[in-house]
Parts: sequence; structure tokens; C-alpha cells
Amino acid sequence: MTKYVVQGGKPLFGEVEISGAKNAAVAIIPAALLVDGVCRIENIPQISDVTLCLKILEQLGANIRSINHHTVEIDCSHIRTTRTSYELARKIRASYYLIGALLGRFGQAEVAMPGGCNFGGVRPIDQHVKGFSALGAKVIVEGGFIRATTEAGRLKGASVYLDVVSVGATMNIMMAAALAEGNTVIENAAKEPHIVDLANFLNSMGANIRGAGTDTIKIRGVDRLTGGSYAIIPDQIEAGTYMAAVAATGGQVLVKNIIPKHMDCITANLQECGVEVEEREDTLLVRRSGPLQKANVKTMPYPGFPTDMQPQITTVLALAQGTSLVTEGVWSNRYRYVDELRRMGANIQVDEKTAVVEGVDHLTGAPIQAYDLRAGAAMVIAALAAHGHSEITGVQYIERGYEGIIEKLRALGADIRAEEEPEEDEVRGASAG
Ligand code: EPU
Repeated sequence: MTKYVVQGGKPLFGEVEISGAKNAAVAIIPAALLVDGVCRIENIPQISDVTLCLKILEQLGANIRSINHHTVEIDCSHIRTTRTSYELARKIRASYYLIGALLGRFGQAEVAMPGGCNFGGVRPIDQHVKGFSALGAKVIVEGGFIRATTEAGRLKGASVYLDVVSVGATMNIMMAAALAEGNTVIENAAKEPHIVDLANFLNSMGANIRGAGTDTIKIRGVDRLTGGSYAIIPDQIEAGTYMAAVAATGGQVLVKNIIPKHMDCITANLQECGVEVEEREDTLLVRRSGPLQKANVKTMPYPGFPTDMQPQITTVLALAQGTSLVTEGVWSNRYRYVDELRRMGANIQVDEKTAVVEGVDHLTGAPIQAYDLRAGAAMVIAALAAHGHSEITGVQYIERGYEGIIEKLRALGADIRAEEEPEEDEVRGASAG
């Protein structure tokens, strides 16, 4: 068990390089299953969710060659099975993409019910199933597995209207439809940057997908996808997390290797809080010297403020002058971390989807727990900004999505380190002994 030990209260200064986007990588790696040839994928982030995705593909029979830290070549020409390992697939939410990819290529898939971050609410996949069914698949849940099959061995293009704007369903249906017979139209599609990235990846392998990034995506099924080379976009949320860290601690940081357009909404909200953000070609200079100001934030599908930045911005607002309102517009329950911020002296009341954040002068270091990936990022920000010493447990969640977070923060002058904690059994043994 690892914990992060943080001595807070130091402003951040320097430069930070943003890694490839987690939520693009965990879709693009499974999408390689659609390709009958070698695909080279660059700018892959070194995070545990990516390691798991690659392991699952290997178990299915993919040949994976690591070219360097951020580049792999995946060859799915000789897939052995369309049934994923239960143990591996259930650990990660994005394993649902294996259904779309396997079903699209082989007309059948058996995938363990997806796991991943649990913010307390339900994470349904009914819209994914609606899409697969429209394309002619029969989908059942049995023995902890989702089983999807087609009678003809190949899906048939169809029109799918999503009842809720879902990132996962949009990408999954796009994958399934890439090799289907005929045309598919996805309406009320999600528009996140990683949706465009997946479409660009598939198109570079020979797919015919138009309209990604708008709410109508048109896919003309092709017979085969062949190999190619593709580089994943930078991670919008990782960049936003470092911006929020500078907002909370003060200081000046150059956030490098980003696409400024993807950051627009986060930038605008931070500017409202009194943070200065200067946009250059593929960098943002983020500076905070004066006091933080209150702001109201509502999370929404892209191009709105991302839900995956909600815990981080709430942490910033906990230190702002005045009362801010944060409204969660995507997930039904994503405020579990607020109890941890309260331990540090934050004054936040949650009423269903809204958090009323009464800014305080400072937070105080405390032992705190990361309950999920983004909540964990918020804990790191809070600990960096707080007066005194904090210890963060549950950091395995943070490492699912942030490459080298300790090294990147230390390079900015943060006093943070990872420490191995004895397992509970060892602790018990020690006290008994
Ligand atoms: N929804 C349904 N039915 C479905 C699918 C979704 O009702 O079949 C609802 C959900 O309950 C939720 C809303 O639609 O209220 C949006 O869910 P979406 O499907 O867009 O989320 P997701 O694809 O499961 C991805 C990211 C999440 C991120 C959301 C929203 C991955 C692996 N995960 O999840 O990222 O919060 O989109 O942007 O891409 C994270 O990175 O920390 C993370 C949780």
C-alpha cells in the first residue's frame, strides 16, 4: 500500500508536460482489436488503466510490442478468443469498449461487467446495449459477463438515438459500427475531444466516420481496417488538474503539450476565480498571485465544464473569498470527497447535486483518503495548498489516471513523496507482537 505524504503551503513554479489522454487511450487500445494488422500508437500515458487494457488485449491474443515508454505496436491479426479474462476486465470501467470492438470485428463478445471508479452512484450501460441491439446484436448478462452475439456474424448499420449524452456509448457504438454492413447514424452523440480522437484513430486505420465532435456521427461500414500509426491527444483533465493546483497554491506554471481549445471552459472558470491564464500555441501560462474569487460552476457534457474536473475546482473554490455554487450535471453522486475536505477545514454543504462552498482562509493538513481518481486529484491539490502535513491513502486510484504525478509536482517545487505503508496484516502483526 502506497500513501502520499505532503507538506503543504508551497506555491508551484516551473513547467509541466501533459501526457496523452487517459480516456482516449483506454478506448483506442481496445479499438485496435478492430484492426487486422499492426497499429502503432504514440503518446500513450504510463498509467495503470493503460497497463490493464494492454494486458487484456494480450490475453485475447494480441501481439504487443513496446517501442518506448509512450509508444506501443499492437497486432490483432491473430486473436485467439472473444472472451475476456474476468479478473482483468472487471477491474476497469473502460473494459466495456471491448464489447464494441470484439463485436464489431468478430460478431461476438464476452466481457466481464465493467468495474472502475465508483463515485457512489450507479453507472449504467443501457445506452451501449441499445446501440448494439439496434445494430443487430443480442445482448445478455450472465454469470458476471455481458455476452453479445450476432446471428449473421456481422453487425448491420442502423440509426441510434442516445437517450442520454454518453461518452462511453458514443465511442462503443462507433467501434461496433466501423466494420458493420452499411451505414450507422448516432444522434445525440457526446462531443468530448476523445470522441474525435477515437474517430481520427479509426479513420487513420481505414474507417469512414464523419461528424465526430458534433451531435450527429455518421459511420459508413467498411470491410476491413488495416494498420497505421496514430498519436493520442493530450489529456484535458490532467492539464486542468495542474491548472487547478496552481490556482489553489499560487505560483506560476507553464502547462505544456496541450490543445488550448480543449481547455476553454476550464480556463474561463479559473479566470473567473482570479487566476491569470495566458494562451500560447500549445501551452498555457497559469499564474495566481492575488486572492481567489468565488464562482458558480455547473458540470456538463463537452464543451461544458467537465465533471472530471468537479472535485478539483470545488477544492479551489473552498479557498476562494465568498460563497460558490457547484452543480454536478453529469453523475448523480460525485461528492463523496467533500467529507475529506471538511476534515481539512473546508466549509462545504452538499444538497443532492449542488455543493454550497463557503470559502475559508486556509485548509489544514490532515490524514485523508482518495475515494476515486478525480477525488484523489482533489486530495492532492488540497494537501498541496493546506498549511501543514497531510497523508493521502487510496493513491492507487490516482495512479490509474495521472502519469508520474509525484515527479511532475516535485519538479514544480511541491513537497510531496510516495511512501510504502505496511499492509493491514503487517500492522496487526506488529501490534500483536
Ligand atoms: N448513462 C446512462 N446510460 C448509459 C451510459 C451512461 O444513463 O448507458 C449516464 C450515466 O449514468 C451518466 C451520464 O450518462 O449520468 C454520462 O455517462 P457517460 O457514459 O458519458 O460516462 P462514461 O463513458 O461511463 C466517461 C469517462 C468518465 C467521465 C464520463 C463523463 C471513461 C473511461 N470514463 O465515463 O471519466 O466522467 O465519461 O465525461 O472514459 C474519469 O476519468 O475519472 C472518469 C470517471
